[in-house]
Amino acid sequence: VAGRVALPTGLEKSLTAQILHTYETRLFPSAESIEVKRAFIEKFATILVTEFPEWEVDIHVFGSSVNGLGTSRSDVDICLTTEHRELEDVFVLNKALRKHQMRTYCIPRARVPIVKIWDPELRIASDINVNNTIALHNTRMLQTFVAIDGRVRPFVMAVKHWTKCREINDAAFGGTLSSYAWVNLAIHFLQTRQPAILPVLHPPAPSLDADECRAAGEVDLSFNDDIAELREFGRANTESLGFLLYAFFRTYSYEFDYRHQVVSLRSGCYLTKAQKGWDSGRPARIFCIEEPFSTWLNLGHSANTVSVEGIRREFQRAFAILREGGSFDQVCEIYQRP
Ligand code: CTP
Ligand code: MG
Repeated sequence: VAGRVALPTGLEKSLTAQILHTYETRLFPSAESIEVKRAFIEKFATILVTEFPEWEVDIHVFGSSVNGLGTSRSDVDICLTTEHRELEDVFVLNKALRKHQMRTYCIPRARVPIVKIWDPELRIASDINVNNTIALHNTRMLQTFVAIDGRVRPFVMAVKHWTKCREINDAAFGGTLSSYAWVNLAIHFLQTRQPAILPVLHPPAPSLDADECRAAGEVDLSFNDDIAELREFGRANTESLGFLLYAFFRTYSYEFDYRHQVVSLRSGCYLTKAQKGWDSGRPARIFCIEEPFSTWLNLGHSANTVSVEGIRREFQRAFAILREGGSFDQVCEIYQRP
């Protein structure tokens, strides 16, 4: 099969079994953690009603607590929608939450301003934004991909687990990549297998030009979410989880052209930086991962040259371990600071 690279005999089966074991015993969220998340959302709703009794505010949970890619330790991502735009000032929400013994930290100047919460009672973290609804659509998109093929969930969760263990999953403070960027990379990889495991869900060309959308604050939100039609799409591809992880590490160690290529889940193929006009000017675009809806955004913008070099070394390290017969646990060994 084109693009197939040999994994030493016998190791592929064993690696698949190890990934599934980690997935089932350590990554799949526990019933208890799901209950804690539910309790937190209920508590948070009560705080909103108490503090803003006159305002109509809707709570939408998005991100890994609902897209099928969360662990027991994942945070709860929440988007509030309201016509009371005063609430878009994160300090308003911050003040209310502090009255209820929540520990909070505001990031007011981010592209999407958020309040980060730590609830010391339920011992759970949450990120809250107000009126940023795009994330609800990309969450539904990820849910769709997860439902299409049984390999998606364990594969993407294994990738996320590796990035967290190796400290390359922290866009805000670590200067590496967000979980969302990693998930885009992993899903795009499954789209580009021969034959493909995942389909392209978006229409061939956005009905609106990227620059026009950006200027108008409008985004084409359409994509194919007909799971009944798409289920079993990847059946012609029989690659195992172990082989896929091995090939993923190899691709981003030695095959992906960081200088010229752009990962585009929207297109299901690689684009070029030149094609997107991302080959010149500032900000420097080093690792390019196009946001599928807001196509003018680079999800790799948080990583600079030095950290992309570090990320690439991590891919090479993981690939070398597997090639030499090492285990998934070795690949995910906790990173030791020098
Ligand atoms: N998101 C986004 N654009 C980004 C980062 C995040 O739209 N640049 C949205 C996505 O909907 C994503 C959600 O915010 O699913 C949560 O992001 P993140 O916490 O990075 O990912 P999770 O999937 O929640 O992963 P984790 O389990 O690590 O929390
Ligand atoms: Mg999250």
